[in-house]
Amino acid sequence: MKRLRILLFLCLILSSIQAQDKKIWNETEQEKIERMAWWTEARFGMFLHWGLYAQAARHEWVMKREKIDKEDYHKYLEIFNPDLYDPAEWAKKAKAAGMKYAVITAKHHEGFSMFDSEYSDYDVMATPYGKDILKEWVDAFRAEGLGIGFYYSLIDWHHPEFTIDSRHPLKPQDPKKYKSLNKDRDMSLYREYLKNQVRELMMNYGKIDILWLDFSYPGQHGKGKEDWGSVELLKMVRELQPDILVNDRLDIKDYQGGWDFTTPEQFKVDKWPEENGKKVAWETCQTFSGSWGYYRDEHTWKDSKQLLVLLIESVSKGGNVLLNVGLTARGTFDYRADEALEEMGEWMKYNGRSIYGCTQAPEEFEVPNHSILTYNPETNRLYVHLLDYPMKNFLMKGFAGKIKYAQFLHDASEIKIGKKHGAWGNEAGSKEDINLLLPVNKPNVEIPVIELFFKD
Ligand code: GLC
Repeated sequence: MKRLRILLFLCLILSSIQAQDKKIWNETEQEKIERMAWWTEARFGMFLHWGLYAQAARHEWVMKREKIDKEDYHKYLEIFNPDLYDPAEWAKKAKAAGMKYAVITAKHHEGFSMFDSEYSDYDVMATPYGKDILKEWVDAFRAEGLGIGFYYSLIDWHHPEFTIDSRHPLKPQDPKKYKSLNKDRDMSLYREYLKNQVRELMMNYGKIDILWLDFSYPGQHGKGKEDWGSVELLKMVRELQPDILVNDRLDIKDYQGGWDFTTPEQFKVDKWPEENGKKVAWETCQTFSGSWGYYRDEHTWKDSKQLLVLLIESVSKGGNVLLNVGLTARGTFDYRADEALEEMGEWMKYNGRSIYGCTQAPEEFEVPNHSILTYNPETNRLYVHLLDYPMKNFLMKGFAGKIKYAQFLHDASEIKIGKKHGAWGNEAGSKEDINLLLPVNKPNVEIPVIELFFKD
């Protein structure tokens, strides 16, 4: 018995030592909530993918997809000159769409730095453009009051010390060849380079709100935390930018402070994502079409209703949306992105109140047919998004006695609360239900929203 107790005691000490090891920094749950509050409130951001691949105009993975070697790829560096680049205009577009923050690619997998880097000649200074794109971008987006973030690719297909792995353009057919292919490559030198570049990003551009590191694929012929030096890297980042929010792709999800939000990519979650049984902060990143980089001949563009539903549904499950624009090599938005952003902006202008600061509605509320609910806990208002406009009567089960006032959000016009009426007379569901008396004609809004005020 005594031995067992000693053993248990030792186990406890060991696990607490381990837990201490697995810590990037100290922060309470409450402090974390406060650090992330602006982002949780914001709900909607712009992702910007821009790099040399914009010139190929056929996906940001073109180098890997077409197995283009570095020498061939160099032609893109030699001509990169976005003469129409106007970040102030970009920032205005993001703002007009209702977005509150933006994240731009500082370096993508191709390895090209969009900023003036002391550690690389493969950067924007070596192109005919010759100016620090990131610096201009940060100034313009900050000036519009938008939160700013950098995407930085952990993967690098240009760096000579980055070892060839399963995602690399030079991936061998025969796995036995990895060893010989990598014999002159030293990943520790790349790790150093990566840290130096991230330090530059954290030090040379003022306050940075978000760092989006991408991505880990641990396992055989993959890369993960040891390869990136994730723990040291993130400790440095948090020291230099204590308020920064970091995504979860460093492969240190089991570390305290190892990530701030999770990043479901290109799919809709069925419910609020959880880790160890607890709901976590999340942001889905999505494209208008299938590609992140500008892709001239890709035509699977989502329509505005799909995009709005994506946003509303994400908020209804407690999450954010980071919607991507792939910039052209001239420095412009694709016309299809412009159209989609304008349409979203039009909706957001009148209905943003059901998005900003909102979250999943309390479970006690039954979701009415063909609708999505969001809820603002500060103002205690509930928002009903009408996906398929009803025929006059809109039944809300279980709401009897709770609602003080109902209105359309877009024009603040009253919606009367009554009983169901029609040829068959009064047939509202049970006594617990209410019926909203909607106008026959759908308001001139893609997805009309009803705002409900509760009795105190
Ligand atoms: C993936 C892709 C990358 C894209 C990113 C955005 O990791 O590799 O091309 O930038 O997702 O989330």
